[in-house]
Amino acid sequence: MAVLLTGGTGYIGSHTAVCMLEAGYDVVIADDLSNSAADVADRIRQITGRDLRFYQIDVSDRAAVRALFDENDIDAVIHFAGFKAVGESVREPLKYYRNNLDTTLTLLEVMAERNVGVFIFSSSATVYGDRNPAPYTEDMETGRCSNPYGWTKEMIERILESACVADGNLSAVALRYFNPIGAHESGLIGDDPNGIPNNLMPFITQTAAGIRERLSVFGDDYPTPDGTGVRDYIHVVDLAKGHVAAYRYACDHKGFEAINLGTGVGYSVLDIVKTFERVNGVRVPYVIAARRPGDLASVYSDPSKAKALLGWETEKSLEDMCRDAWNYQKNRL
Ligand code: WQD
Repeated sequence: MAVLLTGGTGYIGSHTAVCMLEAGYDVVIADDLSNSAADVADRIRQITGRDLRFYQIDVSDRAAVRALFDENDIDAVIHFAGFKAVGESVREPLKYYRNNLDTTLTLLEVMAERNVGVFIFSSSATVYGDRNPAPYTEDMETGRCSNPYGWTKEMIERILESACVADGNLSAVALRYFNPIGAHESGLIGDDPNGIPNNLMPFITQTAAGIRERLSVFGDDYPTPDGTGVRDYIHVVDLAKGHVAAYRYACDHKGFEAINLGTGVGYSVLDIVKTFERVNGVRVPYVIAARRPGDLASVYSDPSKAKALLGWETEKSLEDMCRDAWNYQKNRL
C-alpha cells in the first residue's frame, strides 16, 4: 500500500514526503514540476534513506492518473498539486480555476473508480475571508475570499463535503494552513519560489543573502501592536507532521473534516525581521511601503481542534523557523 502525494516535490509536499517515509509509509509522488525541481525527489531519498516512485505528470490528465493507479497500490491521496500565487490568481483567474479544480476532480473520480477512500487536501486560512475575527475556528463561516486562489480552496472544500455525503466510504480532511515557513534541518529541501518571492520569509532570506536589496514592509499603520501585519507562522516540519496525523485520523474515520494547522500565536512582520536578524546574526534592510491590496491586519488560528482530533500540536519555535529558513538559503548559495 502506498500514499500518493500530488505536488510532492513542492515546498509542503516534499516535507510531508519526508515525514510520511520516516513514519514508515510508502510514498508515490506525482508532480508536473511547474513550480519545483525533479532533484527534490533524490533529496527526499537522501534525507530518509528510503526509496520512492516519482511520476512527472499533470494530475488533471485522467489517463496518466489511471496508469499511476494501475502501477501502484494506492490507498490514500494527499493533494498538494495546485497553483498558489495570490496575485497571479487575480491576473489569471481561469488558469487557477481550471487547474486547481480539474486536478482535484480527476483525482476524486479515479479514486472512486478504484475504491480509494482517503483524501487529505491542502487548504488555506484564506477560506476564512475578511469577515471573521482572529483567532479563526473551523466552525466559522467561510467564503468571501479575497482572490481566485482562495476561492479555489473554498470550492474544493465544498466539493469534498458533497462527495463525502454522496459516498459514505470517503474520508476527506481539508487542512487549513496558516503561514508555513522554515525548512528541514538538513538544508536540503525548503521554500524555493520561482522569480521574485511573494511571501515574506523567502524575501527576507534573499535580502539577507544580498539577492534582494531590501525588504518592503507592506504597511505599518494596521491596528496591530507595532502597526505591521500579524500572521500565524508555522514551521513547515510541524505542518508536515500534521499531515501524517491527519492521514492516520482519516484512515479511521469517514466523512469530511476541516482542520486548522497553525500555532495559535500571531507575530508581526517586524517581529519576524528582528527575530531573523537576532537568531542568524545578519541584517535585513527594510523600508516601510504602502499596504498590499487584499492584506488583512491579523490572521491567526485557534489550533485546538487539531489537538483534540489529531493529537497534533506544533513543537518548533519562531527561532527554529528563522534558523532553518536561513540554513536552507545558505545551502542554496
Ligand atoms: C505575510 C505578511 C504581508 C511580503 C499568503 C496567502 C496564503 C498562503 C501564504 C499559499 C503580510 C507581509 C509580505 C513582503 C511584507 N499562500 N509582507 N513584505 O499574505 O499572509 O498569506 O501566503 O498557500 O494563502 O494568502 O503571506 O508571506 O505574503 O505575507 O511586508 O515582501 O508579510 O503584508 O502581513 P500571507 P505573505
